[in-house]
Amino acid sequence: MYYCEMKKEELSALYSELCAKFEEIKSKGLKLDMSRGKPGADQLCLTDGLLTAVSAESGVKAANGLDCRNYGVLDGIPEAKQIFADILGVPTENVIVGGSSSLNLMYDEISRAMLFGVAGGEKPWGAQGKIKFLCPVPGYDRHFAICELMGIEMINVPMTENGPDMDVVERYVESDGSIKGIWCVPKYANPDGCVYSDETVRRFAALKPKAKDFRIFWDNAYVVHDLYGYKPLANLFELAKEYGNENLPIMFTSTSKISHAGSGISAMAASSANIAKTKKSMGIQTIGFDKINQLRHARYFGNAENVIKHMEKHADILRPKFEAVLTAFEKELKPIGVATWSKPKGGYFISLNVVKGCAKRVYELAKEAGVTLTPAGAPYPYGIDPEDENLRIAPSFPPVSELSDAVAVLCLCVKMAAAEKYLA
Ligand SMILES: Cc1ncc(COP(=O)(O)O)c(C=O)c1O
Repeated sequence: MYYCEMKKEELSALYSELCAKFEEIKSKGLKLDMSRGKPGADQLCLTDGLLTAVSAESGVKAANGLDCRNYGVLDGIPEAKQIFADILGVPTENVIVGGSSSLNLMYDEISRAMLFGVAGGEKPWGAQGKIKFLCPVPGYDRHFAICELMGIEMINVPMTENGPDMDVVERYVESDGSIKGIWCVPKYANPDGCVYSDETVRRFAALKPKAKDFRIFWDNAYVVHDLYGYKPLANLFELAKEYGNENLPIMFTSTSKISHAGSGISAMAASSANIAKTKKSMGIQTIGFDKINQLRHARYFGNAENVIKHMEKHADILRPKFEAVLTAFEKELKPIGVATWSKPKGGYFISLNVVKGCAKRVYELAKEAGVTLTPAGAPYPYGIDPEDENLRIAPSFPPVSELSDAVAVLCLCVKMAAAEKYLA
């Protein structure tokens, strides 16, 4: 029976039982963590071959004879560019391969736009007074942190099951010239696992921004991170060209959750004009990124097809973890109507919506019981979830046994918070 339909005395008795259970769990002194989307150690081990993929014996030259130990080649060695080009569905000349973090590329791209403007833009973003970004919510906290740091005002855009609400996006972008960008995680979005539909991608490609210097920050962090077989996304790069909008998308990805999260390689892809503008100032910032690591990855994987095949190994490890969480939610939370949640087919997160006004309380209760969650509000600009209902669940890091314990505690906390709310 749904908690919201229970009589007060009935719910009150139940709440006492939940509290007793909670005290029992607290006495166990658990230390469980479902807060950050990190790969587990077993996933990292999958690509340990990388550690020996380049040596003095195997040689340090790229296929074109370039000595990867030396300076040079700002935008990456050709074989690494090729792999990312094929993964993102763009020509190799439109790719820049970076260091270990795509977040770093995103931060730098926004900094450059603030300081120097974007290709074809008249003024730097930073010299235009108040500028704004659209932020589909819930979303990735670190995207929002970049905007907050740069003083870019953020506007929440609701997510639908097909991606951001495009009516809202079009209305804002096409009427307000101070809106300069939007953050998108188009495949297995962090945190709700949403995959943008073909129609959504097409509508992005066809936008008619009021601001000439508007850009779509297309963070395809989970481009090959399918749990149930690889399914490609509609190609924004190609579609944007069809609409004469080739300068709109700036795409990002990395191997952080393909190889080693702390020592992978990243990439950005964009129109030739965008890439030329980026390279101009990037070439002042650095002589080049770590080409030995690019060579390691290129040698280890060979091509994009092998990367996609490799992701099946990650999926085999991650699937049972996602399923353990989803099964527990289904069993514990569904019959009592105290939460709804996403059922992602890939990526790293599950988005849990508890009873409105209860997310912070669930977070606090879980913390008290020894389970660390991502703080409530984190997936929203300024850390403010207007409904205080969303929690981002990261099932990847703990082993399945620990995860089951953590989810049991989480479900208990969700029930307690809901009962408190209905009793109040
Ligand atoms: C959507 C999204 N983008 C980017 C990143 C970080 O990527 P990188 O490790 O390449 O900096 C993450 C990590 O969780 C993410 O979820």
